[in-house]
Amino acid sequence: MSGQQEKTFYLETFGCQMNVHDSEKVIGTLVHQGYRQVETVEEAHLVLYNTCSIRDKAEQKVFHRLNDYKKLQAQGKKFGVLGCVAQQEGEKIFEKAPYVSLVAGSASYRNLPAMLIQIGAGNKRVTGLDDRETDLTFETDFTARTNPHRGYITIIEGCDKFCAYCVVPYTRGKERSRTSDSVLAEARQMADLGYTEIQLLGQNVNAFADPLGKKTFAELLYAIGEIPGTRRVRFTTSHPRHFSKDIVDAIVASPRLCDHIHLPVQSGSSRVLKAMNREYTREMYLEKIAWIRSAAKEISLTTDMIVGFPGETEAEFEETVTLLHEGQFDGVFTFKYSPRPNTPALSMIDSIADAEKSKRLQILQERQREVQRANYEKRVGQILEVMVEGKNEARGQIIGRTSQNITLNFTVPENVTPAMGSYVNVLVTRSFPNSLVGEMA
Ligand code: 5AD
Ligand code: SF4
Repeated sequence: MSGQQEKTFYLETFGCQMNVHDSEKVIGTLVHQGYRQVETVEEAHLVLYNTCSIRDKAEQKVFHRLNDYKKLQAQGKKFGVLGCVAQQEGEKIFEKAPYVSLVAGSASYRNLPAMLIQIGAGNKRVTGLDDRETDLTFETDFTARTNPHRGYITIIEGCDKFCAYCVVPYTRGKERSRTSDSVLAEARQMADLGYTEIQLLGQNVNAFADPLGKKTFAELLYAIGEIPGTRRVRFTTSHPRHFSKDIVDAIVASPRLCDHIHLPVQSGSSRVLKAMNREYTREMYLEKIAWIRSAAKEISLTTDMIVGFPGETEAEFEETVTLLHEGQFDGVFTFKYSPRPNTPALSMIDSIADAEKSKRLQILQERQREVQRANYEKRVGQILEVMVEGKNEARGQIIGRTSQNITLNFTVPENVTPAMGSYVNVLVTRSFPNSLVGEMA
């Protein structure tokens, strides 16, 4: 044992897949620096909090949590705030929580080793906040992926869309794509390590623009689907404005590209979409999903919707409800509009009472449940391939995920135990609004 010399860290992560993957980069970097990850705050010398500020009162929650940490500072622990709240609140965090000694946004993680040295030297206000202004991508040299079968690869960072409600362009900075060569090299390395599923990440993956001009996004998808050892390729998130038909064509032509597209629509009303600065109308969105529906493969479609955007009338909300039926989505993430710092929508009057937003949210969720109930029922009788993700001991079921990103829980014959990360064919026997049930085929 290295005893006193050993450095330990605890990291808690909130928010989207980008944040989860960023944390893998932070862990990889810290481990390379000789730190060991621990499961509790108590055991840690360094306590890190990777934050999200996309909705709600995220900042307040962070300060609330930091307040809990306050009493631990006497033990000589160091505290750091990472991610979107760090980027958004910046050095104000030191004022409100003086026991924090590190505040760093996601663009700065490549510089963590230098920041750690400064903390070690007793510097009480170490920051990494300016890096999102540079043209560099946020690649770090080390990534500690937690799942040995399925891993993320960032292909584009930041966002230039400036949707009126969204804080991301301010917290993650401008769009920067990696070269297709570096993405492919990382994907090949992962395939060599035994990863069979690759998930490409970006706030707006369709905006991927290879700095060397070698590949379009669709061409990158094909190329990753051809890497030996790769069985599934997913990508998220697509923006409808730049969503092009060649992406649908790639999914149809390349068997390893998963049959699922997440295409956030946000609202069914063209007036609201314009106010949101989404750069498409309801009709344009419907046209894009018509490509998906007429494809020679059944491609599952999911979306995000916001209710109660400033000025959204009952009639406009109703247009979002009718879009559920036209879209035939297999999943909808629904959100109440929440005003975010720095965003253009902040200057619009948040005119809809919270109770009304809750009511609209509930209506949307109930209607969608019915759409999903019918959609999922149609899959009974199909044989679908799943990747094994876990086990539900209580129910005696194996948990699997289909190419369409649907959870399919299934039973297996006695003495058969499919390995985690293996692929199994399952006959679907029952359906629920959010999952399927079956038996190993
Ligand atoms: N209020 C509510 N929902 C939001 N989203 C982003 N910003 C806000 C906000 N200010 C939702 C959008 C986006 C998803 C990731 O979060 O639907 O697609
Ligand atoms: Fe936010 Fe819009 Fe960019 Fe998505 S596309 S991250 S909603 S600004």
